[in-house]
Amino acid sequence: MDKFLIKGGKALRGSVPVSGAKNSALPVMAAALLTADKVVVRNVPKVRDLVTMSKLLAFMDAKVSAGTVPASDYEIQAPRLNHAEAPYELVKTMRASILTLGPLMARVGVARVSLPGGCAIGARPVDLHLKALEQMGAEIATSHGYIDAKVHRNGSRGRRLKGAHIVFEKITVTGTENILMAAALAEGETVLENAAREPEVTDLILMLRKMGAEICGDGTSTLRIRGVKELHGTEHTVIPDRIEAGTFLVAGAMTDGDLTITNCQPKHLGAVIAKLQQAGVQIEISDATTVRARGAKKLAAADVTTEEYPGFATDMQAQYMALATQAEGTSVITETIFENRYLHASEMVRMGANISVNGREAIVRGPAQLSGTTVQASDLRASAGLVLAGLVATGETLIDRVYHIDRGYEGIVEKLRGVGAQIERVHSPGS
Ligand code: EPZ
Repeated sequence: MDKFLIKGGKALRGSVPVSGAKNSALPVMAAALLTADKVVVRNVPKVRDLVTMSKLLAFMDAKVSAGTVPASDYEIQAPRLNHAEAPYELVKTMRASILTLGPLMARVGVARVSLPGGCAIGARPVDLHLKALEQMGAEIATSHGYIDAKVHRNGSRGRRLKGAHIVFEKITVTGTENILMAAALAEGETVLENAAREPEVTDLILMLRKMGAEICGDGTSTLRIRGVKELHGTEHTVIPDRIEAGTFLVAGAMTDGDLTITNCQPKHLGAVIAKLQQAGVQIEISDATTVRARGAKKLAAADVTTEEYPGFATDMQAQYMALATQAEGTSVITETIFENRYLHASEMVRMGANISVNGREAIVRGPAQLSGTTVQASDLRASAGLVLAGLVATGETLIDRVYHIDRGYEGIVEKLRGVGAQIERVHSPGS
């Protein structure tokens, strides 16, 4: 398994481009299953999760070709779906495979999808996805680790889902995305209340609308979808990755550097930018796609609570914890979305951070001088937090199991080296 070797202490300076958003490309690519026409998806980040999604679509008989020039374009075409199944072998490596359930139910009225297990950060059930599909007329059984879903033939409607009034008990991002895709081809209107408002959901809505879907309520918690008989192909450029952008903003701030993040959308980073400014980071939004972070000589502690968008993103919590270890004072971090998203804390403590975790709360006292050592990555965003800690630690930090970070950060080693970080990937075959 590859490792990252980081020699800390360098201030990051220069400009770094952001790639397309993994969490937008995933539902957007799954949405290609909704039509027999060709769909072109642009600005897809070269990260492992999207390779997995491509394999999954191909497994279902879709034709998938990854662009060569530019490498970030994918062409997908599913003229027929004879294999409406997402097998365990693929789903176990990527929970977001659940995003094929909605499109399969909409397009062919039947689906067999391996239940995505939990992951390091929590149990991550999909019960709300299933309940909503049942309200739309799906019959769902879960056994032997699989979801078997089908819509009974119903006269002229055939195996077609029907619109429903759905109120999500909890805000769920992929749950909202699954139902958006299911409802796009359902008979009648679907009203979805307590829907997620993440920019990635809005990006999917824009793409579905270009395919002929009738959806309104973008960016609000109530979405209305009027089902149509069929959808046609389109081309869609995925939005920039706001979490990658936020991660680099923290990197510039923590290393007392001066980092300009390009090809991003600062408007998607409102809560993160406000929190960094509260901590004393100088942030300058130069235009709609560029934001600059200059570190403060002294960072100030500031409490943060993770919330659904437009609140402070849970996917930025580990990165913020790394910054809080360097801030003057006590920062109270409250993680409200996932029940076990502090695995990075113990590794940062091994580097010398002063963090105590108590349930959903982590108390970070700073500033603490971090020192390099060997640490283990446990999940995608925890890995990012450990990279940030390594950038400011004295000596060398060796991060193991970086396959986690390769799932969601395109070329992170090259991008960080490009702005002065001393970081290299250490290949260790096998082990
Ligand atoms: C999406 O996961 C993202 N993944 C996650 O990003 C992100 O952390 C999360 O949203 C929250 O913003 C993708 O978009 C591919 P949820 P998702 O359903 O949709 C509970 C990353 O780092 N819940 O919004 O799986 C759930 O347990 C990843 O890129 C149910 O109880 O998250 C959690 O506590 C990590 N039942 C809360 O809701 C359900 O049926 C929010 O989960 C669904 C969710």
